[in-house]
Order: sequence, then C-alpha cells, then structure tokens
Amino acid sequence: MLKGMTHVAVAVGNLDRACAFWQDVMGAQIEGRTMVPAQKIEIAFVKLGGGARLELLSPTDDDSPVARFLAKNGPGMHHICIGVDDIAAHMEHLADHGVKLIDRAPRSGAEGHLIAFLHPSSTLGTLIELSESPETKG
Ligand code: CO
Repeated sequence: MLKGMTHVAVAVGNLDRACAFWQDVMGAQIEGRTMVPAQKIEIAFVKLGGGARLELLSPTDDDSPVARFLAKNGPGMHHICIGVDDIAAHMEHLADHGVKLIDRAPRSGAEGHLIAFLHPSSTLGTLIELSESPETKG
C-alpha cells in the first residue's frame, strides 16, 4: 500500500544558501542537516507545514551522483519520495512489471527508513524513491 508523499527532493549547489532561503525568505523550518557519506551528499529537511517536507541535497564531492545531476541539469527538482508499507514486496511487484530498479535490494536511508530508487527511464521521467518507515512495518 502507498502511504503518501514522504518528501520532494531538490538538488542545490550550496546548502547554506538554500537553507537560508527556505528559512529566512520562505518562512519554513529546517529540521536538521545530515551527511550521507555513501552518496557524498549533505541533506537538510525543510518543514513546509501540513506534514509536507522538502529534502535539500547538496554534493560534498565532485564525483557525487548529485554533483553529476547538477552539472547536467542545474539546480532543481531531483526526485519524489513515496512511502510504502512493504518495500520489498513493492520492488518485486515493480520488477515483475518491467520497472528498472536502481537499487536491487532495499537499503538503509535517513531516519532509519529502508529506501530504493526507481529509474526515471521506466517511470515516465520521474526519479522515484520508495521509503518504508520503521513505524509502518507490520
Ligand atoms: Co529522498
């Protein structure tokens, strides 16, 4: 079962400047910044009210996947993240329907979630992250 939009992620070149924009100009609350060494990125969550969140992604190294995204596309929308109740079952279902999985198995993401990415070439152009919250299992 799908459990709603977990976040929309935006790639930015400068995380300090992006956090300042969202906090000082847009009036949002920054929830916390975390390094994700496996992806060579630093992320920050932006609370938009009503439970909606943005995830800001900024590369910490030139060979980060997000650095390559920025070089190709410039800053902007990177992926959407949809909550699911059983990520392994969803991935099996999607693979059966020919959806190209970037991650072959669920892996650990921020905040104790299990995550997996679906390739935009088989989702009509949108990079999609699936996320299973530790609380939604069972
Ligand atoms: Co994400």
